[in-house]
Amino acid sequence: MQIGIDQLAFYTPQTYLDLTDLAHARDEDPDKYRIGIGQSEQAVIPVTQDAVTLAANAASQIIDQDNRQQIAMVLFGTESGIDNSKSAAVYLKRLLNLPDNLRTVELKQACYGATAGLQFAHDYVLLHPDKQVLVIGSDIARYGLNTPGEVTQGGGAVAMTITADPRLLILDDASAFHSEDIMDFWRPLYRREALVDGRYSENVYIDFFKAVWQDYQGQTGRSIADFTAFAFHLPFTKMGLKGLRAILPEATAAQQETLMQNFEASRSYNRRVGNLYTGSLYLSLRSLFDNATLHTGQRIGLFSYGSGAEGEFLSGTISPEFDSKSSQQWFEHFFASRKQLSVAEYEAVFNRQLPAHDVLLDTSDDDARFVLKGIQHDQRQYLDRS
Ligand code: CAA
Repeated sequence: MQIGIDQLAFYTPQTYLDLTDLAHARDEDPDKYRIGIGQSEQAVIPVTQDAVTLAANAASQIIDQDNRQQIAMVLFGTESGIDNSKSAAVYLKRLLNLPDNLRTVELKQACYGATAGLQFAHDYVLLHPDKQVLVIGSDIARYGLNTPGEVTQGGGAVAMTITADPRLLILDDASAFHSEDIMDFWRPLYRREALVDGRYSENVYIDFFKAVWQDYQGQTGRSIADFTAFAFHLPFTKMGLKGLRAILPEATAAQQETLMQNFEASRSYNRRVGNLYTGSLYLSLRSLFDNATLHTGQRIGLFSYGSGAEGEFLSGTISPEFDSKSSQQWFEHFFASRKQLSVAEYEAVFNRQLPAHDVLLDTSDDDARFVLKGIQHDQRQYLDRS
C-alpha cells in the first residue's frame, strides 16, 4: 500500500523584516546574512499569533467538508507549546471543528516533532487506510535581539494530511534515525528565548546527517544516484547547503548539477521566512515541489534534525497524481502582499510579551483568520473570523 503526504499547506503572518536592514542595524556586512547564513528576510510574529493560531491558519487551508470526517488523529509537533498540560492539538481540533472521535497529541523533540508525527501517521494509515492523519509543525523561533542567532529567527506552521494513495509524496518504508542526549540547543521552561551553542549545533547537525545517511544506504542499497533532490531541515538555508556538500562528492558531475539546482528550489521559500523549527523541513519540501521540475517516481531524500538531539533520514517518491507547482501562486501572492517592518518596529513586536494573567489584545493589525484575542481566567481566547 502506498502512504504519504497528500496535502501540505503553510502559514506565517504577513509582517517581515528585511535582513539587509538588520545587518545595517547590527553593524554586520549584509552578505554575511544573505550569503554566509543564506537568509534574506524573516517572518515577524505578532503577539496575536501563537503555535495554535499559526497551525489553525495553515490547517484550515486543507481541511474541508470532504476530509473532516476522515481525520482520525491530530499529531501536533511543536517546541513553542502554550500549556504544560493540554496539547496544542486539542485547541486546534476545536478551532477546525473536527469531530470528537479523534486522538489529539502534542509531540516534542525540538525541530524533529513533525517528522515523528509523519512517521506515526504513516504507521497508523497502514493499519487504517480509510483514515487520514493531520500532522502539524508550528513554532516561533526566538533567540533574542543582538544575539548571533537573531538572523536565524522566524516562525510559522505547516499542516499535512497523511493518507493512502497520496497526491504529493509516497513515503518509502526505510528510514534511519539517530538519537543522543547532548546540549547544542535547548529552552528551559522559564525562558522565552532558546539557548544555543551555535557552532557546536552545526557540527552535530552534520555528524547526525552523515550517520543516518550511511545507515540508510546500508539498509536499502541505495546511493546518491537514486535521488533527484534532498530537502533538509533549514534553521538557516546555508545549513542545508553544508549538509548537501557533505555528500555531494559521491555524485557524478551531472548529478551534482541537478542536486544543486534542486537545492536552490528547496530553499527559495525558507530564505524569505526564516526558521520555523518543526515546520522548516516541510516548508523546504513545499518549496522544492513548487520551484523544481519533478516527475512521477523520482526519489526525494529528507533530513530531519531536532537539537538535543534526534536526526532522521527518510525518503519518498513523487506521486503519479503530483500536481506540479500547485501552491506556487499562493506563495507569489503571499510574498507580494507582506508588510515590511523597520528594525525599530520589529524590535517593538519582539519585545511585546503576553502578561502572565488576563489581557485583552488589540487584534486590529492582524488580518489572519485565527487570532489570539487575549487571556481570560488563565485561558487563551481565540477568535475565528470566518
Ligand atoms: N560574506 C559572505 N559570508 C560571510 C561574510 C561575508 N561578508 N561574513 C561571514 N560570512 C560567513 C562565515 O564565513 C560563515 O560561513 P561558514 O558557516 O560557512 O563558515 C557564516 O557567514 C556565518 O558566520 P559566523 O559563523 O561568523 O556567524 P555567527 O558566529 O554570527 O553565527 C550561527 C552563526 C552559529 C549559525 C548563529 O546564527 C546561530 O547560533 N544560530 C542558531 C543555531 C542554529 O541555527 N544552529 C543550526 C544547527 S541546530 C538546528 O538545526 C536546530 C534548530 O533549528 C535550531
